[in-house]
Amino acid sequence: MIRVLPGPQSPLDPAGIQALRIEHVWWLFFGITAVVYVVVVAIMLVAAIRRRNAPEPLRPEEDPERERRLIRIVAAALGVTVVLLLVMLVGDFTARRSLRSLEPGDPLEIQVTGHQWWWEFQYQDPIPSNNVTTATELHLPAGRPVEFVLRSADVIHSFWVPNLAGKKDLFPGRLTRLFVRADRVGAYTGQCAEFCGNQHASMRFQVIVDPPQRFQQWLAAQRAPAAAPVTAEQRRGQEVFLGTTCVMCHTVQGTPARSHVGPDLTHVASRQWIASGFLPNTRAHLAEWVADPQRIRPGVRMPLHPLPPQDLRALLEYLESLR
Ligand code: CUA
Repeated sequence: MIRVLPGPQSPLDPAGIQALRIEHVWWLFFGITAVVYVVVVAIMLVAAIRRRNAPEPLRPEEDPERERRLIRIVAAALGVTVVLLLVMLVGDFTARRSLRSLEPGDPLEIQVTGHQWWWEFQYQDPIPSNNVTTATELHLPAGRPVEFVLRSADVIHSFWVPNLAGKKDLFPGRLTRLFVRADRVGAYTGQCAEFCGNQHASMRFQVIVDPPQRFQQWLAAQRAPAAAPVTAEQRRGQEVFLGTTCVMCHTVQGTPARSHVGPDLTHVASRQWIASGFLPNTRAHLAEWVADPQRIRPGVRMPLHPLPPQDLRALLEYLESLR
């Protein structure tokens, strides 16, 4: 019944240039540590077998030649370890520098706010009335560099889309930045990567990388105010929305609902997932979520809404019209 937003979610399947650089470091570290592991296990096995067949060893002072040989072997192993750690250190620094060299002059700016426990995305525009605010579903234009400006509304979270870039923490009262260029069109999954409370594990979001033209169409559609209710049922639903606790936490552009405690619902019906990637956006799931969010994600700030069935039906009808 309940489905959590699935993958793909892998740093080894890079969909952008930053992720590609990080993948190179991953393979460098994996290669070195795998060889070290195999060599160490092989030496231990050889030593164990030789020890079984060998006579009782002499004490160090009785066999100075053997003692000198052992010291040379330990010194050589120490030297190799230092060299390998240095190679890893240089690999890490080089990757960091090359990530920094990818920071462009004129990126698309997207502000990301981490909330307990959902993600808010705001697309910045030189004309403030063109800013777009959405939640749970992040659209990116393929091939265009994006600068995420990250902040937290409450506790420390961490923004992570393994297919696109490394992790970046979000702090209350302090901005952090992350540059990403997504190159491969597709859908990916992002995840909070810093323990932030009860629903940390289900604090997910969907990343959709669109061809530039489709991205612009999406952005233009998100810029539009909410669809006005057309049918009598939708009008009734809007009255329910504005007359119950919904209005105290959510925004629907073009209506008196302008609170930022919960996700902006102006175009909620255009999203594929609700509840921070916990439920597919279908009528049945929306009904479950509105009626009893605490049963689905215990601890979230959204309260119970024990609405009469006809009010709930009208409310769902209205929410589904917000395309
Ligand atoms: Cu937010 Cu973990």
